[in-house]
Amino acid sequence: MQWRVRFFDYPIQFRAHEEEYTGVIRDVLSRGAFILGEDLERFERNFAEFVGSRFAVGVSCCTDAMLLSLYAAGIGPGDEVITVSHTFVATVEVIRFLGAVPVFVDISDDHNMDVDLVEQIITPKTKAVLPVQLNGRICSGMDRLVEIARKHGLYVIEDSAQAIGAAYRGKRAGTFGLAGCFSFYPAKLLGTFGDAGAVVTDDEAFAEKIRMLRNHGRGRGTDINLWGLNCRMDNLHAAILDFKLKRLGGRIERRREIARLYHEGLSGLDELRLPPPPVDDGEHYDVFQNYEIEAERRDSLMAFLRENGIETVVQWGGKAVHQFEALGLAGCGVAGSGMAGSGVPKTEALFKKALLLPLYPEMTDEQVSFVVHKVREFYGG
Ligand SMILES: Cc1ncc(COP(=O)(O)O)c(C=O)c1O
Repeated sequence: MQWRVRFFDYPIQFRAHEEEYTGVIRDVLSRGAFILGEDLERFERNFAEFVGSRFAVGVSCCTDAMLLSLYAAGIGPGDEVITVSHTFVATVEVIRFLGAVPVFVDISDDHNMDVDLVEQIITPKTKAVLPVQLNGRICSGMDRLVEIARKHGLYVIEDSAQAIGAAYRGKRAGTFGLAGCFSFYPAKLLGTFGDAGAVVTDDEAFAEKIRMLRNHGRGRGTDINLWGLNCRMDNLHAAILDFKLKRLGGRIERRREIARLYHEGLSGLDELRLPPPPVDDGEHYDVFQNYEIEAERRDSLMAFLRENGIETVVQWGGKAVHQFEALGLAGCGVAGSGMAGSGVPKTEALFKKALLLPLYPEMTDEQVSFVVHKVREFYGG
């Protein structure tokens, strides 16, 4: 297949700064600084500052960031955790791994958690809410969600894997509740050349607990203080991420620019619903990890774009988490099924139409115009 626009282009990122990356890697390797080194501490400081949080703890991936955060908050067997089903399986698997019960709440028009539906599914067993800041946008009404959680004594732990740098009413993703969990998977806004993640928090004792949990329960010395795991972020990844963090602001602006071009180019087609466009002084500052549209005749559109060398993706392989049969959550999405949750009809409807168009900073304006042109051609507009 001769692609004209790949969904994501990994090598292009490396080539853009090949000399600098090689320099960073050579420096870390020549110092032999691999585990829990000064590069990690520096990145943790800089990342916490970027997010607007007191502490950041580097871990092996966002999945571990969420697992350790829920565990450190005391979530365990039988506890209910409210989240969405339009997410990567990681958000839900960590709840299950702790023996807790995921309770799904439906999404609103922007594909994020519908905060107004949360209060009605809180039960005496509910211990936490795990909102997912999907596609680079924070849930509308995050401040109300925090209020609801406070009223009912629930922890808020954010899955901000897709929302580094996004803000709502001036507050950045990851800073609304007890903890924010981030992913530095290669295709993410701030991606390394492998797996890495972070937990951010303002709570010093909580940060210290995560630091111990990621390192076999060890504190600053060799003593073991509690049962832990090995979920450390490699020093090499920290050094690469620290280099990339300096360029993140510009890369986010380019993502917003592409989203603006898509919005201008694709508006007015009856068979498409577009995500909210980037705004300069509004409540939301979206960072467009993804550009998720709703398209009538989605599968035909995908095939047409593919024939024209444009690669698109349906998130999560085309299913909400509760729709993966092997996971045994099927009833969770159905109102009145007796399973936890109140039904997620909007989530299920979305998966018949959802489609991600390519969006990454290295895309040229010509590539964006080509995608716009081909989508319009398909719909005869
Ligand atoms: C919404 C969401 N949550 C969690 C994750 C898991 O992140 P990681 O691969 O760093 O564990 C991802 C990554 O794809 C994600 O998109």
